[in-house]
Amino acid sequence: MYQRIADRSWNFKTADTKEFTHCYHTYPAMMIPQVARTLIENYAPKDKCTLIFDPYMGSGTTLVEASVKGINSIGTDINPLARLISMAKTIHFDTDKIQKYISQIQVMPFLYSPDKVENTDFSRISNHLFWYSEDTLYKLSYISQIIDSIEESQQLFFKIALSEIVREVSYTRNGEFKRFRMQEDKIKQFNPDVFGIFESKLYRNLEGLKQFNSLKSNALTKIYDFNTVFDIPDGVLPDDSVDMVVTSPPYGDSHTTVAYGQFSRWANEWFGFPNAQNLDNLLMGGKKKAVREFETKIIDQELKEIEIQDKKRYLEVVSFLNDYYYSIKHIAPKIRKGGRICFVVGNRTVKGVQIPLDYFTAETFEYHGFNHEITIVREIPSKRMPTKNSPTNITGAKASTMCNEYIVVMTKK
Ligand SMILES: C[S@@+](CC[C@H](N)C(=O)[O-])C[C@H]1O[C@@H](n2cnc3c(N)ncnc32)[C@H](O)[C@@H]1O
Repeated sequence: MYQRIADRSWNFKTADTKEFTHCYHTYPAMMIPQVARTLIENYAPKDKCTLIFDPYMGSGTTLVEASVKGINSIGTDINPLARLISMAKTIHFDTDKIQKYISQIQVMPFLYSPDKVENTDFSRISNHLFWYSEDTLYKLSYISQIIDSIEESQQLFFKIALSEIVREVSYTRNGEFKRFRMQEDKIKQFNPDVFGIFESKLYRNLEGLKQFNSLKSNALTKIYDFNTVFDIPDGVLPDDSVDMVVTSPPYGDSHTTVAYGQFSRWANEWFGFPNAQNLDNLLMGGKKKAVREFETKIIDQELKEIEIQDKKRYLEVVSFLNDYYYSIKHIAPKIRKGGRICFVVGNRTVKGVQIPLDYFTAETFEYHGFNHEITIVREIPSKRMPTKNSPTNITGAKASTMCNEYIVVMTKK
Protein backbone atom coordinates (compact mmCIF):
# COMPACT_ATOMS: atom_id res chain seq x y z
CA MET A 1 0.00 0.00 0.00
CA TYR A 2 1.19 3.54 -0.67
CA GLN A 3 1.33 5.23 2.70
CA ARG A 4 -0.45 8.56 3.11
CA ILE A 5 0.65 11.07 5.75
CA ALA A 6 -1.60 14.01 6.57
CA ASP A 7 0.55 17.03 7.28
CA ARG A 8 -0.95 20.37 8.30
CA SER A 9 2.29 22.21 7.66
CA TRP A 10 1.51 21.81 3.93
CA ASN A 11 -1.73 23.81 4.17
CA PHE A 12 -0.06 27.21 3.78
CA LYS A 13 -3.31 28.83 4.89
CA THR A 14 -1.86 32.30 5.42
CA ALA A 15 0.83 32.20 2.73
CA ASP A 16 1.15 34.91 0.09
CA THR A 17 0.43 32.99 -3.10
CA LYS A 18 0.95 36.02 -5.36
CA GLU A 19 4.65 36.69 -4.85
CA PHE A 20 6.91 37.29 -7.86
CA THR A 21 5.23 36.75 -11.22
CA HIS A 22 2.69 34.38 -9.64
CA CYS A 23 0.47 37.48 -9.43
CA TYR A 24 0.09 37.80 -13.22
CA HIS A 25 -2.95 35.86 -14.36
CA THR A 26 -5.60 33.62 -12.86
CA TYR A 27 -5.94 30.06 -14.15
CA PRO A 28 -8.12 27.14 -13.08
CA ALA A 29 -6.77 24.81 -10.38
CA MET A 30 -3.48 26.66 -9.95
CA MET A 31 -0.88 25.03 -7.77
CA ILE A 32 0.07 27.01 -4.70
CA PRO A 33 3.65 28.29 -5.20
CA GLN A 34 4.57 27.19 -1.68
CA VAL A 35 3.73 23.60 -2.61
CA ALA A 36 6.09 23.62 -5.61
CA ARG A 37 8.71 25.52 -3.57
CA THR A 38 8.61 23.12 -0.60
CA LEU A 39 8.68 20.10 -2.89
CA ILE A 40 11.83 21.41 -4.56
CA GLU A 41 13.39 22.25 -1.18
CA ASN A 42 12.57 18.90 0.44
CA TYR A 43 12.64 16.43 -2.43
CA ALA A 44 15.01 17.64 -5.15
CA PRO A 45 17.64 14.88 -5.50
CA LYS A 46 20.53 15.81 -3.20
CA ASP A 47 23.32 14.85 -5.61
CA LYS A 48 22.16 17.04 -8.52
CA CYS A 49 19.09 18.96 -9.64
CA THR A 50 19.63 20.98 -12.78
CA LEU A 51 16.47 20.20 -14.73
CA ILE A 52 12.85 20.21 -13.55
CA PHE A 53 10.04 19.13 -15.87
CA ASP A 54 6.33 19.93 -15.64
CA PRO A 55 4.28 17.85 -18.12
CA TYR A 56 1.00 19.72 -17.41
CA MET A 57 2.38 23.14 -16.58
CA GLY A 58 -0.85 25.20 -16.69
CA SER A 59 0.04 28.75 -15.65
CA GLY A 60 3.66 27.80 -14.93
CA THR A 61 3.80 27.80 -11.13
CA THR A 62 6.50 25.10 -11.09
CA LEU A 63 8.52 26.87 -13.78
CA VAL A 64 8.54 30.15 -11.86
CA GLU A 65 9.57 28.38 -8.66
CA ALA A 66 12.35 26.51 -10.51
CA SER A 67 13.59 29.85 -11.83
CA VAL A 68 13.39 31.39 -8.33
CA LYS A 69 15.71 28.58 -7.18
CA GLY A 70 18.03 29.04 -10.18
CA ILE A 71 17.11 25.67 -11.71
CA ASN A 72 16.44 25.18 -15.45
CA SER A 73 13.01 23.92 -16.36
CA ILE A 74 10.92 22.59 -19.22
CA GLY A 75 7.15 22.71 -19.31
CA THR A 76 4.48 21.62 -21.74
CA ASP A 77 0.75 22.21 -22.07
CA ILE A 78 -1.56 21.81 -25.03
CA ASN A 79 -3.57 24.87 -23.98
CA PRO A 80 -2.13 27.91 -25.83
CA LEU A 81 -3.25 30.24 -23.02
CA ALA A 82 -1.26 28.16 -20.50
CA ARG A 83 1.83 28.60 -22.69
CA LEU A 84 1.26 32.35 -23.03
CA ILE A 85 0.97 32.79 -19.26
CA SER A 86 3.93 30.51 -18.46
CA MET A 87 6.11 32.31 -20.97
CA ALA A 88 5.20 35.74 -19.65
CA LYS A 89 5.80 34.72 -16.04
CA THR A 90 9.29 33.41 -16.69
CA ILE A 91 10.66 36.27 -18.83
CA HIS A 92 12.79 38.97 -17.20
CA PHE A 93 11.26 41.94 -19.03
CA ASP A 94 13.11 45.24 -18.75
CA THR A 95 11.37 47.14 -15.93
CA ASP A 96 12.61 50.56 -17.12
CA LYS A 97 11.16 50.01 -20.58
CA ILE A 98 7.94 48.58 -19.14
CA GLN A 99 7.54 51.60 -16.90
CA LYS A 100 8.06 53.93 -19.86
CA TYR A 101 5.39 52.14 -21.91
CA ILE A 102 2.97 52.13 -18.96
CA SER A 103 3.24 55.93 -18.72
CA GLN A 104 2.33 56.14 -22.39
CA ILE A 105 -0.60 53.78 -21.84
CA GLN A 106 -1.90 55.93 -18.98
CA VAL A 107 -3.03 58.57 -21.46
CA MET A 108 -4.82 55.99 -23.62
CA PRO A 109 -8.33 56.76 -22.29
CA PHE A 110 -7.90 60.42 -23.22
CA LEU A 111 -6.68 59.68 -26.75
CA TYR A 112 -9.28 57.00 -27.47
CA SER A 113 -12.18 57.40 -29.81
CA PRO A 114 -13.96 54.58 -31.67
CA ASP A 115 -12.95 55.94 -35.09
CA LYS A 116 -9.28 55.39 -34.21
CA VAL A 117 -9.78 51.61 -33.88
CA GLU A 118 -8.13 49.99 -36.89
CA ASN A 119 -9.32 46.39 -36.51
CA THR A 120 -13.08 46.09 -36.09
CA ASP A 121 -13.33 42.55 -37.46
CA PHE A 122 -14.30 40.40 -34.46
CA SER A 123 -15.37 37.34 -36.44
CA ARG A 124 -12.68 35.19 -34.77
CA ILE A 125 -14.63 35.54 -31.53
CA SER A 126 -17.65 33.29 -31.63
CA ASN A 127 -20.94 35.03 -30.88
CA HIS A 128 -19.03 38.21 -30.03
CA LEU A 129 -22.05 40.46 -29.54
CA PHE A 130 -23.61 37.92 -27.20
CA TRP A 131 -20.55 38.05 -24.96
CA TYR A 132 -19.44 41.70 -25.23
CA SER A 133 -20.85 45.15 -25.76
CA GLU A 134 -19.64 46.87 -28.93
CA ASP A 135 -18.01 49.57 -26.81
CA THR A 136 -15.94 46.98 -24.92
CA LEU A 137 -14.88 45.20 -28.12
CA TYR A 138 -13.65 48.47 -29.62
CA LYS A 139 -11.70 49.36 -26.48
CA LEU A 140 -10.09 45.92 -26.33
CA SER A 141 -9.12 46.23 -29.97
CA TYR A 142 -7.63 49.66 -29.29
CA ILE A 143 -5.52 48.17 -26.47
CA SER A 144 -4.31 45.44 -28.88
CA GLN A 145 -3.40 48.15 -31.37
CA ILE A 146 -1.34 50.04 -28.78
CA ILE A 147 0.40 46.81 -27.73
CA ASP A 148 1.35 46.13 -31.36
CA SER A 149 3.21 49.45 -31.41
CA ILE A 150 5.39 48.44 -28.42
CA GLU A 151 8.85 46.99 -29.08
CA GLU A 152 8.45 43.27 -29.66
CA SER A 153 10.64 41.98 -26.83
CA GLN A 154 8.40 43.68 -24.24
CA GLN A 155 4.97 43.08 -25.84
CA LEU A 156 4.14 39.90 -23.97
CA PHE A 157 4.11 41.74 -20.64
CA PHE A 158 1.20 43.82 -21.96
CA LYS A 159 -0.50 40.95 -23.77
CA ILE A 160 -0.75 38.98 -20.56
CA ALA A 161 -2.68 41.79 -18.87
CA LEU A 162 -4.98 42.03 -21.90
CA SER A 163 -5.41 38.26 -21.87
CA GLU A 164 -6.73 38.41 -18.33
CA ILE A 165 -9.17 41.24 -18.95
CA VAL A 166 -10.80 39.90 -22.13
CA ARG A 167 -12.62 37.50 -19.85
CA GLU A 168 -13.25 39.91 -16.99
CA VAL A 169 -14.94 42.54 -19.17
CA SER A 170 -17.13 40.02 -21.00
CA TYR A 171 -20.67 39.13 -19.99
CA THR A 172 -19.54 35.88 -18.42
CA ARG A 173 -20.30 35.19 -14.77
CA ASN A 174 -16.82 35.66 -13.44
CA GLY A 175 -17.06 33.44 -10.38
CA GLU A 176 -16.97 30.26 -12.47
CA PHE A 177 -14.69 28.72 -15.06
CA LYS A 178 -17.52 27.65 -17.38
CA ARG A 179 -19.07 30.05 -19.85
CA PHE A 180 -22.35 31.24 -18.38
CA ARG A 181 -23.79 34.55 -19.48
CA MET A 182 -24.89 37.05 -16.84
CA GLN A 183 -28.60 37.67 -16.30
CA GLU A 184 -30.07 40.44 -18.51
CA ASP A 185 -30.58 42.82 -15.56
CA LYS A 186 -26.89 42.45 -14.57
CA ILE A 187 -25.84 43.08 -18.18
CA LYS A 188 -27.79 46.35 -18.24
CA GLN A 189 -25.75 47.61 -15.29
CA PHE A 190 -22.44 46.13 -16.47
CA ASN A 191 -20.19 48.88 -17.75
CA PRO A 192 -16.58 47.82 -17.09
CA ASP A 193 -13.82 50.41 -17.12
CA VAL A 194 -11.78 48.54 -19.74
CA PHE A 195 -8.78 50.88 -19.78
CA GLY A 196 -8.75 51.28 -15.98
CA ILE A 197 -8.83 47.52 -15.35
CA PHE A 198 -6.06 46.98 -17.91
CA GLU A 199 -3.90 49.63 -16.28
CA SER A 200 -4.40 48.21 -12.78
CA LYS A 201 -3.25 44.77 -14.00
CA LEU A 202 -0.13 46.36 -15.48
CA TYR A 203 0.78 48.02 -12.19
CA ARG A 204 0.15 44.85 -10.20
CA ASN A 205 2.22 42.78 -12.63
CA LEU A 206 5.04 45.33 -12.66
CA GLU A 207 5.45 44.93 -8.88
CA GLY A 208 5.64 41.14 -9.34
CA LEU A 209 8.16 41.54 -12.16
CA LYS A 210 10.40 43.79 -10.05
CA GLN A 211 10.41 41.17 -7.29
CA PHE A 212 11.15 38.40 -9.80
CA ASN A 213 13.98 40.34 -11.47
CA SER A 214 15.56 41.22 -8.12
CA LEU A 215 16.47 37.54 -7.66
CA LYS A 216 18.83 37.82 -10.64
CA SER A 217 18.27 34.18 -11.59
CA ASN A 218 19.81 33.09 -14.85
CA ALA A 219 17.92 29.80 -15.00
CA LEU A 220 16.62 28.84 -18.44
CA THR A 221 12.95 28.04 -19.01
CA LYS A 222 11.65 26.32 -22.13
CA ILE A 223 8.01 25.98 -23.02
CA TYR A 224 6.50 23.42 -25.40
CA ASP A 225 3.17 22.22 -26.70
CA PHE A 226 3.73 18.47 -26.93
CA ASN A 227 1.08 16.13 -25.63
CA THR A 228 2.65 13.63 -23.25
CA VAL A 229 -0.22 11.20 -23.87
CA PHE A 230 1.18 10.60 -27.34
CA ASP A 231 4.92 11.18 -27.01
CA ILE A 232 7.72 13.22 -25.47
CA PRO A 233 10.18 14.18 -28.22
CA ASP A 234 13.70 12.83 -27.58
CA GLY A 235 15.09 16.02 -29.10
CA VAL A 236 13.54 18.02 -26.26
CA LEU A 237 13.95 15.52 -23.43
CA PRO A 238 16.26 12.55 -24.02
CA ASP A 239 15.80 9.49 -21.78
CA ASP A 240 17.35 9.84 -18.28
CA SER A 241 17.65 13.65 -18.61
CA VAL A 242 15.20 14.92 -15.98
CA ASP A 243 16.19 15.29 -12.31
CA MET A 244 12.76 16.12 -10.98
CA VAL A 245 9.11 16.41 -12.02
CA VAL A 246 6.87 18.77 -10.04
CA THR A 247 3.38 18.86 -11.46
CA SER A 248 -0.35 18.86 -10.88
CA PRO A 249 -2.19 16.91 -13.58
CA PRO A 250 -5.91 17.25 -14.26
CA TYR A 251 -7.94 14.90 -12.07
CA GLY A 252 -10.51 14.05 -14.72
CA ASP A 253 -11.67 15.15 -18.16
CA SER A 254 -12.44 18.84 -18.59
CA HIS A 255 -16.14 18.27 -19.34
CA THR A 256 -16.96 16.77 -15.96
CA THR A 257 -14.21 18.36 -13.83
CA VAL A 258 -12.29 21.61 -14.37
CA ALA A 259 -13.25 23.43 -17.58
CA TYR A 260 -9.79 24.59 -18.72
CA GLY A 261 -10.93 25.03 -22.33
CA GLN A 262 -14.01 27.09 -21.49
CA PHE A 263 -12.07 29.34 -19.12
CA SER A 264 -9.33 29.86 -21.71
CA ARG A 265 -11.61 30.43 -24.69
CA TRP A 266 -11.82 34.21 -24.18
CA ALA A 267 -8.08 34.72 -24.53
CA ASN A 268 -7.52 31.88 -27.00
CA GLU A 269 -10.14 33.35 -29.35
CA TRP A 270 -9.00 36.94 -28.86
CA PHE A 271 -5.44 36.09 -29.90
CA GLY A 272 -6.66 33.75 -32.66
CA PHE A 273 -4.92 30.71 -31.14
CA PRO A 274 -5.62 27.26 -32.62
CA ASN A 275 -8.25 24.91 -31.18
CA ALA A 276 -9.81 27.66 -29.07
CA GLN A 277 -13.27 26.21 -29.50
CA ASN A 278 -12.60 22.51 -29.01
CA LEU A 279 -9.78 22.47 -26.50
CA ASP A 280 -11.67 20.48 -23.87
CA ASN A 281 -11.94 17.59 -26.36
CA LEU A 282 -8.18 17.55 -26.84
CA LEU A 283 -7.19 17.59 -23.16
CA MET A 284 -6.74 14.35 -21.22
CA GLY A 285 -9.91 12.27 -21.25
CA GLY A 286 -11.51 14.51 -23.89
CA LYS A 287 -12.02 11.68 -26.37
CA LYS A 288 -14.18 8.79 -25.24
CA LYS A 289 -12.77 5.30 -25.61
CA ALA A 290 -14.75 2.11 -25.15
CA VAL A 291 -12.13 -0.06 -23.44
CA ARG A 292 -9.77 0.03 -20.52
CA GLU A 293 -6.20 0.06 -21.84
CA PHE A 294 -4.32 -0.06 -18.54
CA GLU A 295 -3.65 -2.59 -15.81
CA THR A 296 -4.68 -1.77 -12.26
CA LYS A 297 -5.24 -3.73 -9.10
CA ILE A 298 -5.34 -0.78 -6.77
CA ILE A 299 -8.44 0.97 -8.15
CA ASP A 300 -10.08 -2.01 -9.84
CA GLN A 301 -12.81 -2.26 -7.20
CA GLU A 302 -13.75 1.43 -7.51
CA LEU A 303 -13.93 1.18 -11.29
CA LYS A 304 -16.19 -1.89 -11.07
CA GLU A 305 -18.52 -0.09 -8.67
CA ILE A 306 -18.85 2.86 -11.04
CA GLU A 307 -19.39 0.54 -14.04
CA ILE A 308 -22.25 -1.25 -12.30
CA GLN A 309 -23.97 2.05 -11.53
CA ASP A 310 -23.46 3.93 -14.76
CA LYS A 311 -21.71 2.63 -17.86
CA LYS A 312 -21.43 6.09 -19.45
CA ARG A 313 -19.71 7.64 -16.44
CA TYR A 314 -17.47 4.59 -16.23
CA LEU A 315 -16.32 5.12 -19.82
CA GLU A 316 -15.63 8.79 -19.10
CA VAL A 317 -13.44 7.83 -16.15
CA VAL A 318 -11.68 5.08 -18.11
CA SER A 319 -11.03 7.40 -21.07
CA PHE A 320 -9.28 9.83 -18.75
CA LEU A 321 -7.29 7.11 -16.99
CA ASN A 322 -6.20 5.61 -20.35
CA ASP A 323 -4.67 8.96 -21.31
CA TYR A 324 -3.20 9.51 -17.86
CA TYR A 325 -1.63 6.04 -17.93
CA TYR A 326 0.02 6.65 -21.34
CA SER A 327 1.25 10.03 -20.18
CA ILE A 328 3.01 8.49 -17.14
CA LYS A 329 4.40 5.74 -19.38
CA HIS A 330 6.04 8.41 -21.55
CA ILE A 331 7.27 10.52 -18.62
CA ALA A 332 8.91 7.64 -16.69
CA PRO A 333 11.88 6.92 -19.01
CA LYS A 334 12.80 10.61 -19.17
CA ILE A 335 13.73 10.62 -15.50
CA ARG A 336 17.23 9.61 -14.55
CA LYS A 337 18.13 7.03 -11.88
CA GLY A 338 17.69 8.66 -8.46
CA GLY A 339 15.42 11.33 -10.00
CA ARG A 340 12.14 12.24 -8.28
CA ILE A 341 8.57 12.73 -9.35
CA CYS A 342 6.12 14.81 -7.29
CA PHE A 343 2.54 14.54 -8.58
CA VAL A 344 -0.06 16.68 -6.82
CA VAL A 345 -3.37 14.95 -7.53
CA GLY A 346 -7.03 15.17 -6.60
CA ASN A 347 -9.24 12.19 -5.81
CA ARG A 348 -12.65 13.00 -7.20
CA THR A 349 -15.92 11.25 -6.48
CA VAL A 350 -17.99 9.73 -9.30
CA LYS A 351 -21.39 8.17 -8.54
CA GLY A 352 -20.56 8.33 -4.85
CA VAL A 353 -17.33 6.36 -5.37
CA GLN A 354 -14.07 8.13 -4.63
CA ILE A 355 -11.34 7.37 -7.18
CA PRO A 356 -7.95 7.29 -5.43
CA LEU A 357 -5.89 8.84 -8.22
CA ASP A 358 -2.92 9.00 -5.83
CA TYR A 359 -2.88 5.19 -5.59
CA PHE A 360 -3.26 4.83 -9.34
CA THR A 361 -0.40 7.32 -9.89
CA ALA A 362 1.86 5.45 -7.46
CA GLU A 363 0.95 2.06 -8.92
CA THR A 364 1.61 3.20 -12.49
CA PHE A 365 4.97 4.79 -11.66
CA GLU A 366 5.93 1.71 -9.65
CA TYR A 367 5.11 -0.40 -12.69
CA HIS A 368 7.48 1.83 -14.69
CA GLY A 369 10.48 1.52 -12.35
CA PHE A 370 9.88 3.85 -9.39
CA ASN A 371 9.83 3.40 -5.60
CA HIS A 372 7.14 5.10 -3.55
CA GLU A 373 8.57 7.48 -0.91
CA ILE A 374 5.56 9.18 0.63
CA THR A 375 2.13 10.56 -0.17
CA ILE A 376 1.49 13.81 1.67
CA VAL A 377 -2.17 14.70 2.23
CA ARG A 378 -2.82 18.43 2.35
CA GLU A 379 -6.01 20.38 2.80
CA ILE A 380 -6.81 22.80 0.00
CA PRO A 381 -8.00 25.97 1.69
CA SER A 382 -7.60 28.40 -1.18
CA LYS A 383 -7.26 26.46 -4.42
CA ARG A 384 -9.88 27.76 -6.79
CA MET A 385 -11.69 24.67 -7.98
CA PRO A 386 -15.17 23.24 -7.59
CA THR A 387 -15.56 21.37 -4.32
CA LYS A 388 -18.92 19.99 -5.32
CA ASN A 389 -20.24 18.45 -8.47
CA SER A 390 -23.54 17.05 -9.49
CA PRO A 391 -22.88 13.41 -10.34
CA THR A 392 -26.52 12.47 -10.56
CA ASN A 393 -27.58 15.47 -12.66
CA ILE A 394 -30.34 16.04 -10.13
CA THR A 395 -30.35 19.60 -8.87
CA GLY A 396 -29.54 19.62 -5.19
CA ALA A 397 -28.04 16.13 -5.21
CA LYS A 398 -24.42 17.09 -4.83
CA ALA A 399 -21.53 15.02 -3.62
CA SER A 400 -18.36 16.45 -2.19
CA THR A 401 -15.63 16.13 -4.82
CA MET A 402 -12.45 17.04 -3.00
CA CYS A 403 -11.09 19.08 -0.16
CA ASN A 404 -7.73 17.35 0.11
CA GLU A 405 -5.00 16.89 -2.38
CA TYR A 406 -2.45 14.14 -2.43
CA ILE A 407 1.22 14.71 -3.19
CA VAL A 408 2.75 11.50 -4.47
CA VAL A 409 6.57 11.44 -4.20
CA MET A 410 8.54 8.65 -5.86
CA THR A 411 12.16 7.91 -6.81
CA LYS A 412 13.44 6.25 -9.98
CA LYS A 413 15.22 2.96 -9.28
C1 LIG B 1 -4.17 21.33 -12.82
S1 LIG B 1 -3.71 22.15 -14.28
C2 LIG B 1 -2.05 22.63 -13.96
C3 LIG B 1 -2.00 23.85 -13.10
C4 LIG B 1 -0.60 24.35 -12.86
N1 LIG B 1 0.13 23.50 -11.94
C5 LIG B 1 -0.66 25.77 -12.36
O1 LIG B 1 -0.18 26.04 -11.27
O2 LIG B 1 -1.26 26.61 -13.05
C6 LIG B 1 -3.58 20.88 -15.45
C7 LIG B 1 -3.13 21.29 -16.84
O3 LIG B 1 -3.02 20.12 -17.65
C8 LIG B 1 -3.21 20.53 -18.98
N2 LIG B 1 -3.42 19.33 -19.80
C9 LIG B 1 -4.50 18.55 -19.90
N3 LIG B 1 -4.30 17.55 -20.76
C10 LIG B 1 -3.02 17.69 -21.21
C11 LIG B 1 -2.22 16.97 -22.10
N4 LIG B 1 -2.68 15.89 -22.72
N5 LIG B 1 -0.94 17.39 -22.33
C12 LIG B 1 -0.47 18.49 -21.70
N6 LIG B 1 -1.20 19.22 -20.84
C13 LIG B 1 -2.45 18.83 -20.60
C14 LIG B 1 -4.38 21.48 -18.92
O4 LIG B 1 -4.41 22.33 -20.05
C15 LIG B 1 -4.08 22.23 -17.61
O5 LIG B 1 -3.40 23.43 -17.89
